[in-house]
Amino acid sequence: MTIIRSQVLGLGAYLPSTILTNEELARRVDTSDDWITERTGIRSRRVAAQGEMTSHLAHNAALAALSNAGVKAEELDLIVVATTTPDETFPSVATIVQARLGMTRGAAFDIQAVCSGFIYGLAVADNFIRCGQAKTVLLIGAETMSRLMDWTDRTTCVLFGDGAGAVVLRAAECEGTSADRGILTTQIYSDGRLHDLLYVDGGPSSTQTTGHLRMQGKEVFKHAINNITSAVHAAAEAAGVSVNDVDWFIPHQANQRILDGTAKKLGVPGSRTISTIAEHGNTSAASVPLALATAVADGRVKRGQLLLLEAMGGGFTWGSALIRW
Ligand code: UT7
Repeated sequence: MTIIRSQVLGLGAYLPSTILTNEELARRVDTSDDWITERTGIRSRRVAAQGEMTSHLAHNAALAALSNAGVKAEELDLIVVATTTPDETFPSVATIVQARLGMTRGAAFDIQAVCSGFIYGLAVADNFIRCGQAKTVLLIGAETMSRLMDWTDRTTCVLFGDGAGAVVLRAAECEGTSADRGILTTQIYSDGRLHDLLYVDGGPSSTQTTGHLRMQGKEVFKHAINNITSAVHAAAEAAGVSVNDVDWFIPHQANQRILDGTAKKLGVPGSRTISTIAEHGNTSAASVPLALATAVADGRVKRGQLLLLEAMGGGFTWGSALIRW
């Protein structure tokens, strides 16, 4: 049976040039390089320059992805941007990027699922493609999390960074087996009861301010490993593959201890997990495409391999996507 699948034609990444090290943070708040490295695995993160906005990061990642895919902006039917840090409350970052790319047809919109945004975006893009409503989709995860930080709160400001990653997806006819190239399945979940564990204490309808990120880290940590593990199992089951068949786990980069704990719980070697946390920190919706782009660029990810992407974030939201590269 022939079916439509979404295949990744190309991908790109963009990081702002300013590097903020643990040592520099230790001069601002009561923390140390040792604490941050030991408890999180983070050594440095990128921070957007003054005036450099999420749309700039997204646009640069989009240009890289379109060039890598050999696709022109006018071929796109849809742009989806996963972000929790838009330039403005409205319009969407996606429409700003659409204008900068010179794309005058199709549609563009943002989605908000915080750190799970890219996985949610894959689900949205894949469904548009498989329903036949779009043939070629640009999906971007882009964040300026530095703008949501309370720079006096050492429990959060050491964790996050800025960046963007993008993929170009296109419809392709496939056999309908797990040997097909493309997205084999996406699994997304949320539980709104867990709002208070991770949220931003502001917004247009509540405080009329942007607000700051607030997190009960220990509690989030406990949920993360369990939720991610169950989403990984759900994806494997839906696609009819074994977790052991996965060549590379490409997780949301929140904490190296979460990556290690998840690998342990899944019973897979940590050496099959892509980790970029040391240099990127937690870039929310950008972290999965940034990790993917890193592993593709350095040659670890090869054509035909099975990739398991996963994330968990505020809401709570969480999910997974299984892709044959
Ligand atoms: O992307 C969305 C999902 N987010 C996550 O998945 C984050 C999940 N949570 C975590 O990654 C970890 O819980 C954190 C990295 C946030 C915290 O690590 P932890 O091992 O859970 O530390 P803790 O919160 O239990 O704090 C231990 C101690 C505390 O001191 P006391 O009360 O034991 O005296 C904290 O005040 O470490 C202290 N502490 C720090 N010390 C130095 C907290 N932050 C810092 C810091 N530097 N930056």
